[in-house]
Amino acid sequence: MSKLPGSAGVSLLGDKSLEFYRDPVGFCRQRTDKHGGRVFHSRLLNRPTVLVCSVRGMRELLGEKSGVFLKDPTDLMTNVYGDTVVTTNGEEACLLRLSFNNLFTGQCLQSSSDYITRVCERRLKDISIRGKPECVYSLFKLLGTELVLGLFLNVRADEQPELFQEIMQLCTEHWHGLISAPVNVKVPLWSSGFSTALEARDKLMDIIKDKLQNDREGFVGSLGSLPLPDSSCAAQHLLLFISALIPKALASLLTSFTLALSGNQQVEARRQALEDPDYLHRVLLEVQRLWPPFIGGRRIAEEDCTLAGFHVPKGYGAVYISHAVHRDPEVFQQPDAFLPERWSGRNAGQEHFLCSFGNGPRNCIGVKLTNVFLKEACTYLLKHYDWCLDPPSQDLEYKWLPVSRPANPPSVSFTRLEDAGRDAPDQRSARPAMRSNWCLGDSLKDAVTCGPEESACDGRPRAQLEIAP
Ligand code: HEM
Repeated sequence: MSKLPGSAGVSLLGDKSLEFYRDPVGFCRQRTDKHGGRVFHSRLLNRPTVLVCSVRGMRELLGEKSGVFLKDPTDLMTNVYGDTVVTTNGEEACLLRLSFNNLFTGQCLQSSSDYITRVCERRLKDISIRGKPECVYSLFKLLGTELVLGLFLNVRADEQPELFQEIMQLCTEHWHGLISAPVNVKVPLWSSGFSTALEARDKLMDIIKDKLQNDREGFVGSLGSLPLPDSSCAAQHLLLFISALIPKALASLLTSFTLALSGNQQVEARRQALEDPDYLHRVLLEVQRLWPPFIGGRRIAEEDCTLAGFHVPKGYGAVYISHAVHRDPEVFQQPDAFLPERWSGRNAGQEHFLCSFGNGPRNCIGVKLTNVFLKEACTYLLKHYDWCLDPPSQDLEYKWLPVSRPANPPSVSFTRLEDAGRDAPDQRSARPAMRSNWCLGDSLKDAVTCGPEESACDGRPRAQLEIAP
């Protein structure tokens, strides 16, 4: 059994959390090069922590060894969202997942699809007539917020605009508590971000409890009738499901999709994605491979064990880094290139090597719902619009925390296909054919392949480590 490469240094002084939060991608890239391997250790959150950057290591951590590497119940997520499935282990977690499973699959998922279609249409139908480029991340975040508040709380922006605005504002304040230090200080005329977040949480909980008591319809109605362990369980979970984190993750993926398929050189890819749902599926896999919304997730070793052949002592943290796992050259050839066709070729059937939605028994319970929503939103865009960066040259360098997206909000112009007289399929097939091995537009490609020293970062830690729901 080998010793883990790297060093955990001494307590406090050896802590590398700040360096990691500033530039997680550069942090891992530099150490992977230095140690000549994709599993190594360092000190994060003042705990010796294994960083896992290989597909094989990630599968072992989240799959075979998921009974040894457990969720941390003292995680910051617990501080902000209370006790939820996210930070629970063992039988309790299994039972909660089983209870929720119905709400996110089958009939319940089916009954969400009409609402998803309506929200996409309402939010996306006018994006070309505003006459100016769109800040796509903000647009998609609003779309994501309408989705979660409508689906999970029966609060629809078109029917109850004031309540919708109020909840959206509270969710944002609550979210800011996640990324501010957990210091609950309140003096006249000033309160810390954390105490504002706690106040927002209390107000949200009042709204949620009222809904759980009075609404018999939809998700909130079904959740209210589940046999959950205690009376606050449903409310705690609703707080998590409507949190700002989910619209941010949805907006991250939609933004990356829009950028990857923007401009004239991507006309053929857009056509193909519209006409062939399998191709759209491959595009979306490639989008989540290159730009996973969350940087990863964290576990704690419950006992002495091994990971990727290295000895890991009890009490060590272990973090999988989705960005690095997804670019593991052992599995993904040309790891930095955007190649949707890899999913029908060499990587066909290997979706389980991705971890954008976690992996193994503790993967994301919202993944099916997210896929339905993404496909609906992307198909709407593809069906109705051509789009390009506006202005054409923009700095698209990504930041990775709290969710992945270009550090400078990208702006995009949309042109309705009907207006451009290009909606007839026969006309579209006359467009110039694309290279089969197409890559990203130059600017985005630069952003994807740049080295750590070129990475744009404003130097502020954006979030704690536990950023994935
Ligand atoms: C783009 C959207 C989403 C992304 C990228 C995402 C990502 C993730 C990831 C990476 C994990 C695993 C965390 C870990 O390994 O520690 C996770 C777990 C989870 N996700 Fe999602 N998620 C998304 C949407 C949703 C939605 C819509 C819901 C439900 C409302 C949801 C609920 C959860 C829950 C409850 C867990 C914890 C599962 C457990 O610990 O057993 N997520 N998600």
